[in-house]
Amino acid sequence: VSTAGAFVTEFEHRVADITGTRYAVATASGTAALHIALLVAGVEADDEVLVPALTFIAPANAVRYCNAWPVFVDVEAEYWQMDPNRVADFLRGECRWRDGRLVNLATGRSVRALLPVDLLGHPVDADPLRELAREFGLIVVEDATESLGATYKGRAVGSLGDVACFSFNGNKIVTTGGGGMIVTDNAAWAERARYLTTQAKDEPVEYVHKEVGFNYRLTNVQAALGCAQLERLPGFVEAKRRSARLYQDFLAPLAGVTSFREAEWAHGTYWLFAAIFDEAKCGISSRAVMHALKEHGVEARPLWQPLHRSPAHSASNPTACPVADCIQARALCLPSSVNLTDDQRTRVLETVAGITGTANVSI
Ligand SMILES: Cc1ncc(COP(=O)(O)O)c(C=O)c1O
Repeated sequence: VSTAGAFVTEFEHRVADITGTRYAVATASGTAALHIALLVAGVEADDEVLVPALTFIAPANAVRYCNAWPVFVDVEAEYWQMDPNRVADFLRGECRWRDGRLVNLATGRSVRALLPVDLLGHPVDADPLRELAREFGLIVVEDATESLGATYKGRAVGSLGDVACFSFNGNKIVTTGGGGMIVTDNAAWAERARYLTTQAKDEPVEYVHKEVGFNYRLTNVQAALGCAQLERLPGFVEAKRRSARLYQDFLAPLAGVTSFREAEWAHGTYWLFAAIFDEAKCGISSRAVMHALKEHGVEARPLWQPLHRSPAHSASNPTACPVADCIQARALCLPSSVNLTDDQRTRVLETVAGITGTANVSI
């Protein structure tokens, strides 16, 4: 049942296989995976790491656990992912090389890494980010926690950076109740991740520890659940993609309602299906839609408060991120469970139709 059991190793091998990476190290959560990935990638106190403004807060928190600082970068308007053009603007316009360090002129701190998130089951546009990382000597830590099963130009998420992280939290496409994974092709980083996540134990009999480590390992019981869940991943992806297809087809003709879509270079999982409700065009705000749906027993949820507005990260010198603001004000996630039946999907759509004044749902 403990962290030493055989299922942990089996689960690690299977995730490495799925993501096409050499090494995988299981962790207690996706957040723990991010913390350790940043440490093994060499992020140090007072370094800066670029994080998209529109994401769940965990990656920014993980940067702070390293006593480093997140720099929030706006997302692009089409697929809502970290915008490579904004990254380029920041690196070219707001940073300079000084004594071999890439320095953010506004803070005087060293810029060390990019931490793109594959948001909502959709990959980030990784190639231009990797190109920038190469040009500016940065490490890419991929937060693939929401997107297991998605691919970018045929490559699995998890293989798009130097090191990547997954989450198996209860709301993820594959769950172990709680859990995470670090994947990388870098043998030394994988070994160090295993060391740091297991209390940095140097001598297991006499309990000698040369460093302060963490109790971040996944248990064998959870890993066994993970192995079973992974067998169902293709079916889970198909169920979510079916919901997305039906939602997109139905919502397409509604004025002011725009579904989240995948790029032609992406095969996403639609982990959460989201749509924009533009009040100026559909006559009702996203939050009013959310409340009306709730009254009809259908749960819809907004995305996360953009991180440049997060009180928790107000000390991080945040700058404006208008695209993230605009998406967050208008977007709602609709029911996206893999267990949805077509009757339930129809009910969701009929309720949205009733609220936005459109009738005749057939799927
Ligand atoms: C983008 C992102 N990063 C990190 C995490 C953290 O994962 P966990 O909840 O397993 O710590 C999550 C989700 O929970 C997430 O959505």
